[in-house]
Order: sequence, then C-alpha cells, then structure tokens
Amino acid sequence: MKKNILITGGAGFIGSHLTRLFVNKYPDYQIINLDKLTYAGNLENLKDIEDKPNYTFVKGDIEDMDFVKKLFTKYNFDGVLHCAAESHVDRSINDPLAFVRTNVLGTVSLLQVAKDGWKDNYDDKLFYHISTDEVYGSLDEKGFFTEETAYDPRSPYSASKASSDHFVKAFYHTYRLPVIVSNCSNNYGPYHFPEKLIPLCINNIIHNKPLPIYGKGLNVRDWLFVEDHVRAIDAIFHKGKIGETYNIGGHNEWKNIDIIKELCRQMDEKLNREKGTSEKLITFVKDRLGHDLRYAIDATKLENELGWHPSLQFEEGLSKTIDWYLNNKEWLNDVTSGAYMKYYEQQYGK
Ligand code: NAD
Ligand code: DAU
Repeated sequence: MKKNILITGGAGFIGSHLTRLFVNKYPDYQIINLDKLTYAGNLENLKDIEDKPNYTFVKGDIEDMDFVKKLFTKYNFDGVLHCAAESHVDRSINDPLAFVRTNVLGTVSLLQVAKDGWKDNYDDKLFYHISTDEVYGSLDEKGFFTEETAYDPRSPYSASKASSDHFVKAFYHTYRLPVIVSNCSNNYGPYHFPEKLIPLCINNIIHNKPLPIYGKGLNVRDWLFVEDHVRAIDAIFHKGKIGETYNIGGHNEWKNIDIIKELCRQMDEKLNREKGTSEKLITFVKDRLGHDLRYAIDATKLENELGWHPSLQFEEGLSKTIDWYLNNKEWLNDVTSGAYMKYYEQQYGK
C-alpha cells in the first residue's frame, strides 16, 4: 500500500536505523526525513540510502510550525514517526531549556500540525511517538517497568520526554488523534554518537584515553541492539493498537562497570592488545547529578501481542558494534572533531 511517512530526527542514531529499515523494506512508502541536523544529526548515517527514489531529506526544525505545516500540505502524510529529540541526559543537566524547546514545544507543535493537517479525518493515520523508559524513574535492585508504572521522571531529559508523552496522550484523549507511544530501554549499535557510554568508551579505548565511569559504576541499564528497537517500532507501527503504550526492552541488564569490562575484554582481543590493557584505562569520576540507579523493562505486552523478541545476545551485539566502529574510523574521527572536543573538555576536563 502506498503511504507518505514523515520521520523526524531521521539523521540521528535511532532515526537513521529506522529510516533505513523503512526505506529498504517498504519501497511503496515515500519516506520524508525531517531533521534539524543538530550536533547529533549526521547525513553520513544515511549515505547508503540517500539516492533511493522513495527517500527525501528535508532540513528543518520541528518547532518551526509554519515550515512543518507546509511540509504536511505538500506530502499529506499518512503517518508520523517522531524520533527528533535532544537525547543526552548530561547535556540536559547543563542546559534544561534546550530540552524543553525540542522535546516539549517541538512535540506539541508537531501534534498540532498533524491534527490540523488531518482535519479530524483520521482514517488510516498514525502519530507514533518514540520515547524512553527513563520517564518511569529509577528502580531499586528488584522489579521492572511495565506500561502501568506511574511516571516519575528525575532528570531534565526524562522530565521533558515525560511531558511530551503526556501531550501525545492528551491529544488522543481530547481530540482522538490516533497515537501510539513506545518506551524503550538503552540502545547501542552503529552510528551511536560518542557522548553516550558505549561509543565514548570504544573511542577512548582506540585512543588509549581514560574510560570515565560515573560514581562506582554500579548503576544498571537494560541494553537493546538498535536494529531490534527499530524492528519493534516497525511491528508496533503496523500492528499496534491506537491509543496504546508499548514497552520495548532487551531483558539484558548490566552494571556499567561490568559492561565496560566486557567491552575492554573484547577490544583487547580485536586490537591484539595484551589481556587487561584496556581495563587499566577505567577511571572512576564524579557521579552524574541525580543519577538513576536502575532501569529494567518488562516487554511482555509487546512479545505476547505482537510476537517481537530481541534477535541478538548482548555479547554478539557488542562485538558487531565494536567491529563497526573499528571499520568506520573516518566516521568516528569526523564526529569527534570540532565541537565534540569542546563538549568533552567541559564534561570530563582536559
Ligand atoms: P539522537 O540525539 O542520536 O538524534 C536526535 C536527532 O534529532 C538528531 O538527528 C537531531 O539532529 C534531531 N533533532 C534534534 N532536535 C531537532 C529539532 N528541533 N527539529 C528536528 N530535528 C531535531 O537521539 P537518539 O538516541 O537517536 O534518540 C531518538 C529518540 O529515541 C529520542 O526521542 C529519544 O528520546 C528516544 N530514545 C533513545 C534511546 C537511546 O538509547 N538512544 C532509548 C529510548 C528512546
Ligand atoms: O534508557 C533510555 C535512555 O538511555 C535514552 O532515553 C537516552 O536518550 C540515552 O542517552 C540513554 O540514557 P543513559 O543516561 O542511560 O545513557 P548514557 O550512555 O549517557 O549512560 C549510560 C550509563 O553510563 C549511565 O548510568 C551513566 C553512565 N555513564 C555515562 C557516560 C556518558 C558513565 O558512567 N560515564 C560516562 O561518561
């Protein structure tokens, strides 16, 4: 079936994998990627699909309502996959307002444009909002986030994402705008910007730089390979129920210190370094303010209702990820030059 689909933030980490999947898997869909190209957006992430006839890139800001309205009029979108966001917790601690602008105001603008553009005729339309497990807050050693867990965001990033989720649901309840929200755990994989734990440490191991571990490294995250996340989004977009929330997660909890030790072990092997070399780079640094202890997703609803399961064991996914970075040093060098160094020095010192 022919469809016009708007993907926002398609030049970012998850957005680029999602765009690639949709462009390749659905040749009858016209995919329009709207991205502001902030520091996190990179058209190099989409080099392999940029010439496909069913793909168009448009540079623009989701907050620019007039611009997005014109885009809606031009393409008469059947679906919106909303990925664009400010996504890094540490940056949200330094500059919360930037997160309110894009994540809250940008999302509400987009909802309003979709509502106006669809003129209350919602047949076969869908506004899909991509969100995070961080909206649920922080867990102790036990328990999992389900779709019923009460929201308890604790960082400026998660507060802005929680707010956007609430607006999406408010548009459903108030105007019957057809929406779906999914809340996913930590992703990892190729094209991950090296401000986040795993790619930052891969880059630092390559360059023999310290591996900064916040606090004692005992915080727990639930890691999912990014291609499994976008497969879940595909399933939910096509088979999910309007108005519902779906949790997405990998049943794959790791303490930060353990994940970095595993990373060091694999990288020593791949770089032919003596066993234990990279671990010596581990450096405990000042903890993140308000650092959430543990995230863990219960994805039973998605598994039972839509038959989705993660495809990769973590060690295998991590190995594929390291190989991608080692084979794409030019990409890594490009994104870590210029403004990245300024951010790095501000966050970690010289
Ligand atoms: P990212 O930071 O890698 O990419 C964000 C993209 O959005 C970039 O291409 C950027 O240029 C674009 N963008 C930012 N502000 C914009 C604006 N105002 N207008 C248009 N484009 C704009 O983020 P990501 O890690 O790929 O995350 C994508 C989405 O998935 C986010 O909504 C995030 O909250 C959510 N999420 C991320 C993870 C994760 O582990 N990375 C996990 C769960 C959910
Ligand atoms: O849970 C989903 C979320 O996962 C997404 O919504 C966010 O967009 C994404 O950035 C990610 O948030 P985290 O804060 O969990 O990811 P990050 O890679 O920044 O950190 C992972 C863990 O590692 C966290 O406990 C903080 C710690 N950490 C991070 C960095 C950057 C360190 O110990 N040292 C570091 O230098």
